[in-house]
Amino acid sequence: MNLLFIGDVVGSPGRDMVKDYLPKLKEKYRPHITIINGENAAGGKGITEKIYRQFLEQGAQAVTLGNHAWDNREIFEFINEAKYLVRPANFPQNNPGQGMIFLKLNQLEVAIINLQGRTFMNPIDDPFRKADELVEAARKRTPFIFVDFHAEVTSEKQALGWYLDGKVSAVVGTHTHVQTADHRILPGGTAFMTDVGMTGPYDGILGVEKEAVLKRFLTNLPSRFEVTEGGRNQLSAVNIELDQKTGQAKKIEPILINDDHPFYS
Ligand SMILES: [Fe+2]
Ligand SMILES: [Fe+2]
Repeated sequence: MNLLFIGDVVGSPGRDMVKDYLPKLKEKYRPHITIINGENAAGGKGITEKIYRQFLEQGAQAVTLGNHAWDNREIFEFINEAKYLVRPANFPQNNPGQGMIFLKLNQLEVAIINLQGRTFMNPIDDPFRKADELVEAARKRTPFIFVDFHAEVTSEKQALGWYLDGKVSAVVGTHTHVQTADHRILPGGTAFMTDVGMTGPYDGILGVEKEAVLKRFLTNLPSRFEVTEGGRNQLSAVNIELDQKTGQAKKIEPILINDDHPFYS
């Protein structure tokens, strides 16, 4: 079973890349399931219902989120009805939305879990304990379990990878917007990668206009961060192949498309 996951889609440049390349990626990798992290899809901050629906129409089966989940106020109007939208599960108990969903795929089921780190981020609930709880529940139904761990530091992400090794199919990181080169299959059969990277502007800084970011570094004065528009774009993703019977990972392959890393079909 092939699973394609596209990292943090940032604003309209990111959405354009999904529109242009998702059909080509589907042809090349033939994913049975496509998942998109959409936490920055609406102008860099959160997601709207229209964009969520667009991703599904373009061929995603699930959309994950992160710390920007609540940035666009529209989220509160549709998250409880959005069956394929997954926000970090370790937000406080009664927050709207869901942290784990199950997708049906012929006779199989795939669990999609979204968790958020706590190091150098808002201190929400413990992602490790929350993972225990969700993975235990998911494993009663299926061995196919995908975890998008939305976290800042490499150590916390590696720690969750090792913590869940052998219990889930994959733990891949999002949030830093920079793809790491450490994709591997851990000894227990869990595919792991610290960060999948970002889908959006290629010449900004993490997707934001570089002038504004530079101004903040140089002056320490407030400056408004906007998504870089009208320039070159990139797409970051990962293709994971799972054993049809055990749900263990057989292969993990990063995907990076930009002017320095052209796409080959
Ligand atoms: Fe992000
Ligand atoms: Fe984030």
